Amino acid sequence: MKFNIQITNSPKEKPNPNTLVFGEKFTDHMFIMDYDAKKGWSDGRIVPYGPIALEPAAAVFHYGQELFEGMKAYRAQDGRVLLFRPYMNAERARKSADRMCMPDLDPEMFVEAVKAIVDLERDWIPNKPDTSLYIRPFMIADDPFLGVHAAKHFKFIIICSPVGAYFSGSNEGLMPTSMYVEEEYVRAAMGGVGFAKVGGNYGSSMKAQEKASAKGCDQVLWLDALEHSFAEEIGAANAFFVIDDEVITPPLLGTILPGITRNSVIELLKKWGIKVAERRLRIEDVAKAAEHGSLKEIFASGTAAVISPIGKLVFKDKEIVVGDGKSGEIANRLYEALYGMQTGRLKDDMGWTMEVEHALQASRAESL
Ligand code: PLP
Ligand code: COI
Repeated sequence: MKFNIQITNSPKEKPNPNTLVFGEKFTDHMFIMDYDAKKGWSDGRIVPYGPIALEPAAAVFHYGQELFEGMKAYRAQDGRVLLFRPYMNAERARKSADRMCMPDLDPEMFVEAVKAIVDLERDWIPNKPDTSLYIRPFMIADDPFLGVHAAKHFKFIIICSPVGAYFSGSNEGLMPTSMYVEEEYVRAAMGGVGFAKVGGNYGSSMKAQEKASAKGCDQVLWLDALEHSFAEEIGAANAFFVIDDEVITPPLLGTILPGITRNSVIELLKKWGIKVAERRLRIEDVAKAAEHGSLKEIFASGTAAVISPIGKLVFKDKEIVVGDGKSGEIANRLYEALYGMQTGRLKDDMGWTMEVEHALQASRAESL
């Protein structure tokens, strides 16, 4: 797949990799492609990163018809640039698009576009521990029309951001974070859009996130919308609970995001012969397990979060310490395995990483 490339005249200075935070800096270029109901997707191109012009009436501003994805590119020690299971992001974007009445995007095209922009921006990939190039593909409805029905014009855009650790303060490897159990607000109900990666899920989560911060916690643990009783997922990650010798994660019943890291964690645990179950878990039972000393670990899994141990829960204004409050054995082992594979330090025996070849240089050489 060939995309037109317009190189910036004013490249930016690369940020200091030692002080990178999450999602503040953006690279020199972005990918854009347009959709029209008659023509389909067309004009995939890479242009200098910058503002895009949209009519104030554009549907995305009013009814939130949009979706996004989150993935990372890592630079291996030998210089290779690696993506992690990018077709899973492409397939998830497809499901989000279907739920939001947005046009289908061929996974091949999605991955080719990601590879093209990452290839061009490869010098932006930091290579300090816990840094990477965060990739944010997204699709927006840009019809200037205020009727509430599916738009006919869309844009698919990919921007890239050199990032450090998602949780500030967790730059030193696996620093445990804290979690507030949210009993009032809910994230997603059955039949809603919880399984899709769409902006509305995050916009509506900020109130609870602010509450969690005010209680001194890093993130929110969401409970189910019906009983406010079963653990669902964490602000921007999936949740895993280790009780006795079993690892439990909430099942994919339509309300939680099917995380690519979550899927990878389950597969690794199965491979290692560790008991893992996808089943509903009441937060009361988590609290009881902590009382009995059988709650060994809780950890979050996600692209931004990687594997992030939870050291403490705040539930009904009481503090619950998880295990010994430190990062647990299983979280450590998973982090090592996943992060090792993602960064090319460990052999990828799962076939999960994909190298971004120097296609750009090759195609330039061809045209010389
Ligand atoms: N759950 C939510 C709400 C998220 O935002 C994310 C992050 O993408 C995840 C789970 C984890 O998904 P993944 O592992 O695909 O990044
Ligand atoms: C990710 O992990 O990719 C996410 O999307 C988290 C993000 C909402 C900050």
